[in-house]
Amino acid sequence: MSKRFDEAAKTWDQNDTRTRLSSAIAQAIETHVALRPSMRLMDFGAGTGLLSERLAPLVRSIAAVDVSSGMLGELEQKASIKAVVTPYCRNILHDPLEGDFDGIVSAMALHHVEDTRELMKVFFEHLNPGGFIALCDLDAEDGTFHSHGNDGVFHFGFQRDALASFCADAGFEHVRFETAHTVLRESGRGYPIFLLCAVKPEKDSVQAV
Ligand SMILES: C[S@@+](CC[C@H](N)C(=O)[O-])C[C@H]1O[C@@H](n2cnc3c(N)ncnc32)[C@H](O)[C@@H]1O
Repeated sequence: MSKRFDEAAKTWDQNDTRTRLSSAIAQAIETHVALRPSMRLMDFGAGTGLLSERLAPLVRSIAAVDVSSGMLGELEQKASIKAVVTPYCRNILHDPLEGDFDGIVSAMALHHVEDTRELMKVFFEHLNPGGFIALCDLDAEDGTFHSHGNDGVFHFGFQRDALASFCADAGFEHVRFETAHTVLRESGRGYPIFLLCAVKPEKDSVQAV
């Protein structure tokens, strides 16, 4: 599957729909999460860095995680974000990153991961107490969103309730959804994009007796 993104990487940023979507997602995250200059973030499925580059001026560091070396190769060429954004080409489901994060953001990557329930647990493990997730992806659709076909697509979007229960099972609190944007296709059809926010509890909520 990373081959598909390796091939798409060179022209990825030339697509206006994608750049508009990234701006809308960054705006939604800024609006609904209190980002601070001290924060260490992870951008999961960072790709060429369309989201990372928009958030980089607002935080201390961003670990840009992706399984496609081609996509991350494009990100690495963006000199203006080098000091803040570090690429990691790996699958954190099998090979976790060292160190804890204050927040995990993601744009349009969840539907490319088969085991979303496990992914929420992995996110939880990568966060400091009080850390947040702010994840954007497609609401449930009928498989027509990807005009190039559904190679590497494990989910035709998501039912919000299902994702909310995966988050709760992983241990997250304050799970909430917003609609970040709607992608309009030439057909006139609209595909809503959600922003899912949740928080890892500050302390173990089980009280000692
Ligand atoms: C639709 S692209 C989105 C890229 C970028 N976030 C953006 O908005 O332009 C999905 C990205 O998720 C990455 N991806 C898929 N499965 C992944 C996994 N298990 N771990 C990390 N990245 C993954 C792909 O390589 C690809 O770069």
